[in-house]
Amino acid sequence: MPQRKPVVIVTRTLPRDVETRMMELFEARLNASDKPMTADEIVAAAEGANVLVPTVTDKIDAALIARLPDSIELIANFGVGVNHIDLEAANARKIVVTNTPGVLTDDTADMTACLLLAAPRRLTEGDRLVRSGKWEGWSPTFMIGHRISGKRLGIIGMGRIGQAVARRVKGFGMTVHYHNRRRLHEEIESELEATYWESLDQMLAHMDFISINCPHTKDTHHLLNEERLNLLKPHAFVVNTARGEIIDEAALARMLAENKIAGAGLDVYEREPEIEPALLELDNVVLAPHLGSATHEGRIAMGEKVIVNIRSFVDQHNPRDRVYEV
Ligand code: DGY
Repeated sequence: MPQRKPVVIVTRTLPRDVETRMMELFEARLNASDKPMTADEIVAAAEGANVLVPTVTDKIDAALIARLPDSIELIANFGVGVNHIDLEAANARKIVVTNTPGVLTDDTADMTACLLLAAPRRLTEGDRLVRSGKWEGWSPTFMIGHRISGKRLGIIGMGRIGQAVARRVKGFGMTVHYHNRRRLHEEIESELEATYWESLDQMLAHMDFISINCPHTKDTHHLLNEERLNLLKPHAFVVNTARGEIIDEAALARMLAENKIAGAGLDVYEREPEIEPALLELDNVVLAPHLGSATHEGRIAMGEKVIVNIRSFVDQHNPRDRVYEV
């Protein structure tokens, strides 16, 4: 890394305070248009640069990594999920990758809680009705939903976000169950009053609600495929604030249309910003546009993490949020 300020390429517009700080500390090349950059544009911009700051909307695959100039030594991702970055290819070129864990845990857990409430209580369906001018007033049998208290929630992925979801839903009177690669430490499990299921299939068959909170990796791609979705009870709801690729979206849409499961709340999709057309026709699914970490506070904190990661790398320390291949 050179003695002069490092040259940092930022692929999307970041919060103003974050960009200002980046301009002070680095030779930052910002994207004022906020238009997603193509692979060719990223490669061209990276010429002579030291650090690339992408986001989840950039596909930093092996082909793009192979074309990056040798001067790029760090990919400091603005975001926690790194499934859009080929870690193996970066590693092979000795490019360090960092992300922004921890600072968007609460925001993402809040969004999960929003969807866990909005789907069974038909909130967005009701909103559409009110706006249409067709609401005819209260009635004892009108737009009846489902209670969440007293129900069982199965959390897939009990990392930081999964645990934050568990803490919130205890307040709603739900019972927490989970499936995770590793069982939680006894103390945390008993604090959360959480029941561990080694078998995901068995957990799915016994829950009223499912929340997906695991990362997207090759092992979790279509983890909820048609076969697994078929294990769910017909009154079950599925919420996903992790990554769209973890659910087979077309299979989910079919099952929702056939009322084989009661409903879903989705914040993430397989081919963002494209959405499975069948989902758009359904009333029993709440669709949010990847808002999990979209708070002012969260975005600033993510930017601060990116800056700290770049600075510690430039100062020749191992950045705290370095991501290793699993
Ligand atoms: C992340 O950080 O991975 C979110 O999904 C996007 O902000």
